[in-house]
Amino acid sequence: MAYNLLKGKRGIITGALDENSIAWKVAEKAHEEGAIFVLSNAPIAMRMGEINALAKKTNSQIIPADATNVDDITNLFTQSQEILGGKIDFVLHSIGMSVNIRKNLPYPELDYEYYQKGIDVSAFSLHKMLSVAYQMDAISDWGSVVALSYIAAQRTYPFYTDMADIKALLESITRSFGYHYGKKNHTRINTVSQSPTKTTAGNGIKGFGEFYDFADAMSPLGNASAESCAEYCITLFSDLTKMVTMQNLFHDGGYSTTGASTEAIEKFGRG
Ligand SMILES: NC(=O)c1ccc[n+]([C@@H]2O[C@H](COP(=O)([O-])OP(=O)(O)OC[C@H]3O[C@@H](n4cnc5c(N)ncnc54)[C@H](O)[C@@H]3O)[C@@H](O)[C@H]2O)c1
Repeated sequence: MAYNLLKGKRGIITGALDENSIAWKVAEKAHEEGAIFVLSNAPIAMRMGEINALAKKTNSQIIPADATNVDDITNLFTQSQEILGGKIDFVLHSIGMSVNIRKNLPYPELDYEYYQKGIDVSAFSLHKMLSVAYQMDAISDWGSVVALSYIAAQRTYPFYTDMADIKALLESITRSFGYHYGKKNHTRINTVSQSPTKTTAGNGIKGFGEFYDFADAMSPLGNASAESCAEYCITLFSDLTKMVTMQNLFHDGGYSTTGASTEAIEKFGRG
């Protein structure tokens, strides 16, 4: 059911790789809610071509941009405003990648070049997008920016290695830039800290399947799906959440404030 929450709003949605991507679901919901937007992803991700189906379905154009490259981001904001006919009302940052995780390197033995790459792709990219938009004055008054995070920014998860540190930086950029952009023209900036979700990025983490089940057993409502995450993002892009900014918002079925659940404890049952 749609509520026209984003009627007349213009957006940029990054990170839709395939139909499992959180960004893919956000694009589908934003379209249902009346928004117009452009889709963007790294040029290398375009090769798989799946994003074309999403563009067709949502009547949107695709602008390739490597989120580590300021020229690409400048082009993204310039072209988006031309295509959509005005300033941008909402931006989804749904970008994450760790070579250390891909290569399965344990936290005490991280490769620092990979570490830097992960920081650049997954955290600096948010700063770069905000900085470009700020200097171009590309986001409209009371615009909304959402980036996706994970609770490893607050608590230790051994398998999440460098991404834990990177998400902590991402959340800090959200607060720091949220202040400056809020003062400039009421632009609000938040992170949504999402449950484990079966996507390309999620499945790339060693032992993800077991951990997904653990988190599901620990959450009173169960793991939050990509679709429900998308719905939450839509509310944050809408005018109904205008005074929410500089927050890390848990979207996790209650996981973050549950100490123990009977389901998880029963797994240790001694018969
Ligand atoms: N899947 C989970 O369990 C989970 C949980 C919490 C938060 N998140 C976060 O959600 C976000 C989206 O991930 P997802 O789970 O939908 O997986 P996904 O693999 O579908 O999306 C990650 C996206 O990042 C893009 N990307 C990588 N390098 C890029 C670059 N240089 N420039 C531009 N784009 C680039 C990829 O092409 C891909 O589209 C990430 O920030 C991730 O950390 C995921």
